Amino acid sequence: MSSDKPKILVTGGAGYIGSHAVLALEAAGYPVVILDSLEYGHAELAQQHLKAELIQGKTTDRPLLDQIFQTHDIGAVMHFAAYIAVGESVEKPAEYYHNNVYGTLTLLEAMLAADVKQFVFSSTCAIYGPPKTVPIPEDHPKNPISPYASSKLMVEEMLKDFSAAYGLNSVVFRYFNAAGADPEGRLGEDHQPETHLIPLVLQAALGRRENIAMFGTDYDTPDGTCIRDYIHVADLASAHVLGVEYLMQGGDTTFINLGNGNGFSVREVIETARQVTGEEILAVERDRRPGDPPRLIGSSDQARNILGWEPQYPDLESIIAHAWQWHLYRHGRASA
Ligand SMILES: NC(=O)c1ccc[n+]([C@@H]2O[C@H](COP(=O)([O-])OP(=O)(O)OC[C@H]3O[C@@H](n4cnc5c(N)ncnc54)[C@H](O)[C@@H]3O)[C@@H](O)[C@H]2O)c1
Repeated sequence: MSSDKPKILVTGGAGYIGSHAVLALEAAGYPVVILDSLEYGHAELAQQHLKAELIQGKTTDRPLLDQIFQTHDIGAVMHFAAYIAVGESVEKPAEYYHNNVYGTLTLLEAMLAADVKQFVFSSTCAIYGPPKTVPIPEDHPKNPISPYASSKLMVEEMLKDFSAAYGLNSVVFRYFNAAGADPEGRLGEDHQPETHLIPLVLQAALGRRENIAMFGTDYDTPDGTCIRDYIHVADLASAHVLGVEYLMQGGDTTFINLGNGNGFSVREVIETARQVTGEEILAVERDRRPGDPPRLIGSSDQARNILGWEPQYPDLESIIAHAWQWHLYRHGRASA
């Protein structure tokens, strides 16, 4: 079926957040083509639930990128493809800078060659480092403390320069903690290895791990555990549609936090998961991990003011209930 809307190239579209963004783009009537290396994504889910053509390949492959831009009439690019494990980035910085920085530069150069000048980029709240003010505004000082976070800040710097010199405009989204799953149960989070709290808690609920560790219970927070800003992946996805439409309407390069504006503690997450799942979920107290700030909450004023974005699922119950429905379907006892 032909569409009057421009085609969007989504890199990393077989991964967790990218696949939800493709769902949202397709629901809004945009044709999509996905480029994913499938090192971490899930081809079977993309093929089952998304209409988009899935091309297997890397953003570092310039001839492949040129071929994609020649074959498809691409109007804008959403760039999710990256390596994402903070700890691994400390061990293997070369791989992270190659994939995340060189891969993005190669993609931007291919875009310029094809005269495609609208770009939506997945950055991270990790570029801020330990916060000096909470909620964190976009103009907070940047102090990345891992190669992963540095790789994202380097791309942000490139995007400022590409905007000024070439008129290649970007919406840079700095995500806080993406969580939850498609409310209709088609897609969800399945990282290998998994490091995110909510899926780990749900693995404990399913009996796939013995317990869940709480790292640090003596922080200066109401219940002693760290507080994080969890944003529903469907709300992230809707912001991306608004972001690309903002660029299509002539919007300038802009940097926008995507968080809930609300923080939830580790204990609150575990307690809500107990209520949602009806399972006991054994939690064990462990020492603090180095580099974990007590509170990370983003100001979402810019997303509201510039894009008119409103999160549809800001409550922890919905985030965990949707993630649980997905976990039962993907890994669990239930037949969904
Ligand atoms: N998950 C979070 O909470 C979070 C928070 C902040 C920022 N982000 C950013 O959001 C983006 C998506 O994260 P995610 O959680 O969906 O990760 P993910 O690993 O599920 O998805 C990334 C996808 O990109 C693919 N990929 C990696 N490098 C590639 C390359 N060079 N070329 C083509 N494909 C490549 C992988 O195979 C994978 O399918 C990443 O850029 C990440 O840094 C995520």
